[in-house]
Amino acid sequence: MKAAVLESYNNFSWKEVPDPVLKPDEVLVRIQFASICGTDMHIFPGDFHPRTPVPFIPGHEMGGVVAEVGREVIGFDRGDKVAVDPIIWCGKCPACLRKHYPACTGLKLLGVDMDGGFAEYVAVKPHMLFKAAPDLPDEHVALAEIYGIGFHANNRAKTQQDDTIAIWGAGRVGQVILQAARIRTRGTIFMVDPIESWLQIAAENYEDVITVNPKKENPVDAIKRHTGGKGVDIAFEAVGHAEEITGVHTPVRSCIQSIRGGGKVCVLGLGDEPSPVVFKELIWKEGQLITSRVSDGEFTEVIEHLNAGRLKPHALISKVMHGSEIQKAFETIQQEKEKYLKVLLDFRD
Ligand SMILES: NC(=O)c1ccc[n+]([C@@H]2O[C@H](COP(=O)([O-])OP(=O)(O)OC[C@H]3O[C@@H](n4cnc5c(N)ncnc54)[C@H](O)[C@@H]3O)[C@@H](O)[C@H]2O)c1
Ligand SMILES: [Zn+2]
Ligand SMILES: [Zn+2]
Repeated sequence: MKAAVLESYNNFSWKEVPDPVLKPDEVLVRIQFASICGTDMHIFPGDFHPRTPVPFIPGHEMGGVVAEVGREVIGFDRGDKVAVDPIIWCGKCPACLRKHYPACTGLKLLGVDMDGGFAEYVAVKPHMLFKAAPDLPDEHVALAEIYGIGFHANNRAKTQQDDTIAIWGAGRVGQVILQAARIRTRGTIFMVDPIESWLQIAAENYEDVITVNPKKENPVDAIKRHTGGKGVDIAFEAVGHAEEITGVHTPVRSCIQSIRGGGKVCVLGLGDEPSPVVFKELIWKEGQLITSRVSDGEFTEVIEHLNAGRLKPHALISKVMHGSEIQKAFETIQQEKEKYLKVLLDFRD
């Protein structure tokens, strides 16, 4: 098969590699599209070394069509359209025994901890596959993983009808939190980000979204002003490594300051630096601090909404390039970060 192999950091080659060997309890998937993630952008220059030693095939957001079914597998047929959940949990640790898979201490990801989906084929266990409607565009199937993160965050925060919400970070994760939240609530949603193009995507696609550029206005003040001083029901942090903005607190602290009494803060950003939090500000509101990691079976929910046309995948896709152009795709995103939200790679013939 052909695959995009990261030969050395910053250097992909599109080349012939051996086909995956299908085990009796696996399904072979012919990848149609895969999506480039922020994590891939870190793997590319070697930020994930030694977790991702080269040569290596990245790709953990992917969809395709079943090409072959191992003899022990039931429930799948050749030609089924499927999204691939890249999470491989150990099944043995205390978290797994409680079926709390995102907290698995041995959690691994296809395309991060082992070769992944930037290739024509992957072989995976059937529980990692989720069937999509035959007429769902292949491009959209490849977005199921990132949507799963947005739905999981809303499940963790228990978003309810009429909740008002603020989302720090209108990047890839912030946008899917927005789309998943909109399925649940008619309430006002605030999007906070210094990048105007990302704010525009949110405002153009959804009604009752108020965008706040923290370089122009303090987001906590804006939220208080629009909510009559009350604050929002839930604030999500989807930033991670935050740009420092003069006069504005860090995203997590701003989230705490933006919620109503008894409100919730759900943190997703995976920054490495400590984030200052004044706990008194949270305790006086008796607020809840929640975290959310990857997804936990939300693929089913995501695909149901994608099949029914309730999500806006077009709003996320900035560009589609062929798999053979992978080096160019990564360099293009690096050069013009504010132009490309989701770039999809086409692995069809
Ligand atoms: N918990 C999870 O399951 C999970 C899953 C995927 C990614 N992540 C993490 O979530 C974070 C966001 O990922 P992403 O792919 O959306 O990245 P992204 O780069 O697409 O989005 C981050 C956004 O934050 C904005 N930002 C930077 N500083 C800010 C500030 N001070 N205030 C407001 N906005 C600010 C940036 O302009 C950018 O648009 C990363 O840390 C990533 O590692 C977590
Ligand atoms: Zn990803
Ligand atoms: Zn485990």
